[in-house]
Amino acid sequence: MEIQLWRELLAPYQLAVDELEVKFNHIIRECHLKGSYSPIERVEGRVKKISSILDKMQKKDVNMNNLEEKIKDIAGIRIICQFVEDIYRVVEMIDERSDMTIIAQKDYIKTAKNTGYRSYHLIVEYEVNTLKGAKKLPVEIQIRTLAMDFWATVEHSLHYKYSHHIPEYIQDKLINASNAIVVLDQEMSAVRDEILDAQNAFSVKANLISDILHNLQNLYRVGNRQEVQRIQEEFYKIYEQDDMEQLIRFGHQLDIIAEGHGAQSLH
Ligand code: GTP
Ligand code: MG
Repeated sequence: MEIQLWRELLAPYQLAVDELEVKFNHIIRECHLKGSYSPIERVEGRVKKISSILDKMQKKDVNMNNLEEKIKDIAGIRIICQFVEDIYRVVEMIDERSDMTIIAQKDYIKTAKNTGYRSYHLIVEYEVNTLKGAKKLPVEIQIRTLAMDFWATVEHSLHYKYSHHIPEYIQDKLINASNAIVVLDQEMSAVRDEILDAQNAFSVKANLISDILHNLQNLYRVGNRQEVQRIQEEFYKIYEQDDMEQLIRFGHQLDIIAEGHGAQSLH
């Protein structure tokens, strides 16, 4: 097929990937805005390369006429989470959304693949609008922890190194590593609450300080310079004391002052 026709065929899949990356990144942003922990750590997306599509068509005996119906991972999204629990939360979140419909799912976490591969896979149906009108298309979403992602990346590069014929002793090592990752993820889950508490406290403080700095900056523009400098010095003093309650009280007072000047921060 001509390259131009490939580009036309793949364009809606690129749009789906771009839109979904924005949407999943927005979930992270919403969580951070609330000062709460995001079950999504990172999002990646890609459209399958033409050469990989051709390889897969050959392997699965697919032709141009049934390509879009048979190959469901032309558009791919990968969601990386910190903890195994987050993966199931993300699946729930996707299930609750009105802009995508789950049409297939495979839990390679409860039952790993023979290679040792672990991840949760979804195929969702997602609608895009292009100059040609609306089009529903499948998108593969892989959801995994940081540790599972690390394993899959290493295993994937070994496939390249050995042209898909990984020696048996390395395959065994990969299975061992995969089992070690299960234990690691379990250990991480066991201290999850502690980690989340620490992360939440950190993000609440970071948001508060960012609001204070924005307010100060805005006040410099509209307020009395000396007065703002005095407030800023007070902020430094409180900041050095590292007392959250005082910092919250200060942030609140500053909010009131800034509001009085119509200079409240809304970053
Ligand atoms: P494909 O024909 O590969 O798409 O298999 P499938 O249609 O049975 O889907 P499956 O859910 O098994 O795998 C889909 C995708 O998951 C692959 O394209 C890879 O990105 C990833 N994957 C599956 N198995 C492995 C594995 O053993 N190692 C790594 N690194 N990735 C894997
Ligand atoms: Mg697939």
